[in-house]
Amino acid sequence: MDFKPYIRTIPDYPKKGIQFRDVTTLFGNPRAFRAAVDALVQPYAGVRIDKIAGIEARGFILGGAVAHQLSTGFVPVRKKGKLPYKTIHEEYDLEYGKDQVEIHVDAVKPGEHVVVVDDLIATGGTAFAAIKLLERAGAKVVGCLFVIDLPELGGADKIRALGKEVTTLVE
Ligand code: PRP
Ligand code: ADE
Repeated sequence: MDFKPYIRTIPDYPKKGIQFRDVTTLFGNPRAFRAAVDALVQPYAGVRIDKIAGIEARGFILGGAVAHQLSTGFVPVRKKGKLPYKTIHEEYDLEYGKDQVEIHVDAVKPGEHVVVVDDLIATGGTAFAAIKLLERAGAKVVGCLFVIDLPELGGADKIRALGKEVTTLVE
């Protein structure tokens, strides 16, 4: 399926000059949402994956569906200050600012195989921080899944340079 027609572009959001790729329109279409989840899980059918790590916020929506389909656990990678138990965190730069992500210290067990899921990769800063966090906690991050790649920002190549498999559905 061609997913592009289901993704809405909002000019100058959240800052002037940013073309914001809005996947809520894809999530809202039953066929497109199912097809996107089916395409994302495909590389990991029959592969050992213990947990999906979904990045807040749209990575929760996709990651939950992917985890269900692959029968894995789910780890929320949250923005700072949202998790109730002891956490570890990483700071990162965004296309439009700075932020921090965190996970619970015991979110993964050492040696667990984890796949990171988000709606979009731009500079790769968010995904890079999520991978670092999960690996600090002892996980083996085997790959990352995104619906959208913004290739001119180089994020997917940056993650591939770490030796991680990166799957994206549209550029
Ligand atoms: C968006 C997107 C990714 C991140 C990608 O989230 O959902 O998480 O940016 O950018 P990067 O590859 O340059 O790091 P955003 O930071 O807008 O947060 P939100 O999900 O809370 O809206
Ligand atoms: N995250 C970083 N850049 C983005 C963009 N252009 N659209 C949606 N999310 C983003």
